[in-house]
Amino acid sequence: MALEGAYFTHSDGLYEAAERRKAPRCVDSGKRLQKKAKFILLELIPMVIKLVIVALPGLLRDLLRTILPARHKSIANQVALVTGGGNGLGRALCLRLAQDGCSVAVADIDLVSAQKTAEEIRQRFGKPVDAFRVDVGDYGSVQQLRKDVERSLGPVDILVNNAGLLAMLSLSEGKAEDIRRIIDVNLMAHFWTIREFKEGMVERGRGHIVAICSMFGIIPCGRTISYTTTKFGVKGLMAALKEEIYMDDLSDCIHTTCVYPAGVATRKEFVDFVQSLSKIKIPWNSPESVANMVVDAVRANKAEIVPSHFMIKLLTTVFPLIPTALVHSTVDVCLGTVPKLTK
Ligand SMILES: NC(=O)c1ccc[n+]([C@@H]2O[C@H](COP(=O)([O-])OP(=O)(O)OC[C@H]3O[C@@H](n4cnc5c(N)ncnc54)[C@H](O)[C@@H]3O)[C@@H](O)[C@H]2O)c1
Repeated sequence: MALEGAYFTHSDGLYEAAERRKAPRCVDSGKRLQKKAKFILLELIPMVIKLVIVALPGLLRDLLRTILPARHKSIANQVALVTGGGNGLGRALCLRLAQDGCSVAVADIDLVSAQKTAEEIRQRFGKPVDAFRVDVGDYGSVQQLRKDVERSLGPVDILVNNAGLLAMLSLSEGKAEDIRRIIDVNLMAHFWTIREFKEGMVERGRGHIVAICSMFGIIPCGRTISYTTTKFGVKGLMAALKEEIYMDDLSDCIHTTCVYPAGVATRKEFVDFVQSLSKIKIPWNSPESVANMVVDAVRANKAEIVPSHFMIKLLTTVFPLIPTALVHSTVDVCLGTVPKLTK
């Protein structure tokens, strides 16, 4: 199947509509019923039985995994790369991964902060560590990062896509290029790093890809359209990636974890600003507690986690079932009328 050409080249007026074939409808109602019964007995029921038989071992395994305490794999001596490792949640993730025995590549656009995290790891854990400057929104920079990390620490086993811009712009706010930058850093970066690092994981037969998404990747939030869009994109990317890994028969060696944090007390100006918008006290999580939950989830090969308080976990689970009127009244009670966030 090579359809690419059809989409990447354009010829005016040459669009060809697909044929729509309709099965001829049987006029005799007795015959129609007979046909339906034949289909149910000979095709549908055998297919359902086959499906149940094929799915049963997997369903039982998932049930046992839910009931029994998770078995944690060792990540000692693996190479972990954390983007945005200079500050906030990324820094906490670097420290916890080093504590669990990983060699850590701290990658950030802010090299000074990345070097500070690396120095802290050296002093506290004595593990191999290095700091790298990267702009994750730029594919060339990510390609260079892979070469640099492999030269310094070896091939990457655990890729943590954490770097993100917390800039919350709506559609008409900021400059057009600000919106593009949010999409490049928060979403496109995941494409670039996975494209660059997954192949090596497949060759070596082991790897784990982690995405730091957001609660806003499950629950959309007005006034933050660009940020929310990127996080929904990350959720979709990770869900499709997991399916592709299954199709490629790699589920036993390559694992994925998508993380949906709620408020994490990282940057002071961000926390103060968000708190000033809210009528209720936001239950902020510390970066360290979130990092602990993320690394525990990685070691248990969990595909998704909401590293937050019970009520937030519950909310993200039941959100698709909540009627819009209730969602809107909750926004009114908690936030009131939120002004546009920027001019
Ligand atoms: N803080 C929260 O409340 C919260 C909630 C949900 C999700 N998240 C997500 O967690 C992740 C980390 O957020 P944080 O609060 O620690 O942010 P932060 O601003 O404290 O840290 C982000 C780090 O990423 C780096 N960075 C920014 N652009 C980069 C680029 N182009 N290339 C490489 N590095 C870059 C920054 O220099 C910084 O060190 C983000 O993806 C964010 O969307 C945060």
